[in-house]
Amino acid sequence: MKGLKEKVVVVTGAAGGIGTAISKRFGEEGSTVALFDLNEDGAARVAAEIEAAGGKARAYRVDITDHEGVHAAVARVEEELGPIEVLVNNAGWDMGSFFLQTEKPFWDKVVAINLYGPLNMHHAVLRRMAERGRGRVVNISSDAGRVGSSMEAVYSFCKGGLIAFTKTMAREMARQHIPVNVVCPGPTATPLLDNLAQGEKGERIKAALVKAVPFGRMGEPGDIPGTVAFLASDDAAFISGQVISVSGGLTMAG
Ligand SMILES: NC(=O)c1ccc[n+]([C@@H]2O[C@H](COP(=O)([O-])OP(=O)(O)OC[C@H]3O[C@@H](n4cnc5c(N)ncnc54)[C@H](O)[C@@H]3O)[C@@H](O)[C@H]2O)c1
Repeated sequence: MKGLKEKVVVVTGAAGGIGTAISKRFGEEGSTVALFDLNEDGAARVAAEIEAAGGKARAYRVDITDHEGVHAAVARVEEELGPIEVLVNNAGWDMGSFFLQTEKPFWDKVVAINLYGPLNMHHAVLRRMAERGRGRVVNISSDAGRVGSSMEAVYSFCKGGLIAFTKTMAREMARQHIPVNVVCPGPTATPLLDNLAQGEKGERIKAALVKAVPFGRMGEPGDIPGTVAFLASDDAAFISGQVISVSGGLTMAG
């Protein structure tokens, strides 16, 4: 992919299923990967795997819901690795429940991670990119944010919000030629999906999801990084404010 070599790339949620796959892909592209996660050991393990494969990576323990902590971590990355050229907002969290069975403390947690997390990251990183007139942002939303998803009401609220926010940032950053885009995975086999669909009922939900996907299978973490790398590359320099689903044809939005 053009223009990724030696670029500093921040990936949030880098210890998770999709975040690991994205981080490793940037490692293979010759980027320097800063892995942000609450799970410090997990992020360090992925960083070590990237380095063992000949890439460059460093893990950072970051809680993306902590505004001050995010600003401090971003400053540290720039001191240690250089200017951040690509931001991938990938961290996310949910538990499956019908909305009427949920309570406010649960909403607060979902909103803090899935909405305030990306807000904090954009605030800290985009200011620096805007000053330099250079950079790329790829936000990982979800098909839940495009078409809704039963038992994921507050999560869908956040993911839809992230899509609208991305389009607005794409407009605000256009003068600096900084593309901001969204990738929406469909159901993908990761710990997050296991969290959503547990036990016997969970297996039935997963089987129903597979049936609904025209390609006839669940997504794998490795299905996502190609689109993310493309949107971060020079080949996508004139693409901004766009939403791409990677879901085996599950969502065909116009
Ligand atoms: N798996 C799916 O079916 C699916 C579908 C659509 C969208 N997505 C989205 O893809 C992204 C990655 O999801 P995944 O399936 O790989 O999930 P995952 O649970 O495997 O990984 C999420 C990672 O985010 C980290 N994280 C959670 N809260 C954090 C915080 N406050 N600060 C820093 N890190 C934090 C976790 O420690 C974990 O490593 C998420 O944004 C998710 O919403 C996933």
